[in-house]
Amino acid sequence: MSAFVIDGFSIAASVRSRITSEVSLLKEKTGVHACLAVILVGENPASVSYVTGKEKALAETGMIDRSYRLPESTTEDELLGLIKTLNSDDSVHGILVQLPLPGHIDESRVIMSIVPEKDVDGFHPVNVGNMVIERPGFLPCTPRGVLVLLREAGIETKGAHAVVVGRSNIVGKPLSILLARREYNATVTVCHTGTRNLPEMTRQADILIAAAGSPAMITAGMVKPGAAVIDVGVNRVEDPAAKKGFRLCGDVDFGPVSEIASYITPVPRGVGPMTIAMLMENTLQAAKNTAEK
Ligand code: GUN
Repeated sequence: MSAFVIDGFSIAASVRSRITSEVSLLKEKTGVHACLAVILVGENPASVSYVTGKEKALAETGMIDRSYRLPESTTEDELLGLIKTLNSDDSVHGILVQLPLPGHIDESRVIMSIVPEKDVDGFHPVNVGNMVIERPGFLPCTPRGVLVLLREAGIETKGAHAVVVGRSNIVGKPLSILLARREYNATVTVCHTGTRNLPEMTRQADILIAAAGSPAMITAGMVKPGAAVIDVGVNRVEDPAAKKGFRLCGDVDFGPVSEIASYITPVPRGVGPMTIAMLMENTLQAAKNTAEK
């Protein structure tokens, strides 16, 4: 039996469509027109592609796009100066600095310079802390997108054993915390490079989340028959036959694993579009918060 392939692309499209109506309604009722500032420093090809996707979604949902594409040579002080200006600009509701930043810029200083009320990525320590203790704040977009995918696909998290492979600040760490919330009620195991017997751990998963950033590392032998497999990996692998010279590959060995799993997300068109849809959701929320003030 082949797994049901969860169509993140169409779930994301329906989320964006609802957001489009809400953006227009908010503007009509309150005069607040949702606006996101997206800052890209340098020309990392994957980052350029992500930022282009975010700009497209802003246009589609009718939000104001304040994009800044800055040269690789931008200094940390220049970037902090721009963020300070955007922090105090009332017409800007969300600020997103695309990561990774060039090596000469301290990422953590940059993240902390964004006021938490505009941190639609949910990376600021205040938002991370609020997430952990279940207070209102912005949840990070990729974990939030995974939770919506699970819900929309009808995958039961309550009582399930969720195994998260990867402990990044952006995905693995927050997702493991969110899945353990009472509302999802999963039993969570976090695996990482120090895990002694990874296949033994992943084979216990009812829900397997692959967020390690390693192409096709989750092989069929690591998956329990009937498991739901969510692939968060986006890896560029060289492919001379492809037009661009590379193709996108997830952390999951899709073909063989889809023969064993009950649900699987593809790469592309799985988690990726959900991340962007959740960014739109967080930006809309930031705009609503401004309107309520
Ligand atoms: N780089 C990879 N994922 C993300 C993300 O969700 N937000 C930002 N700002 N940068 C990223």
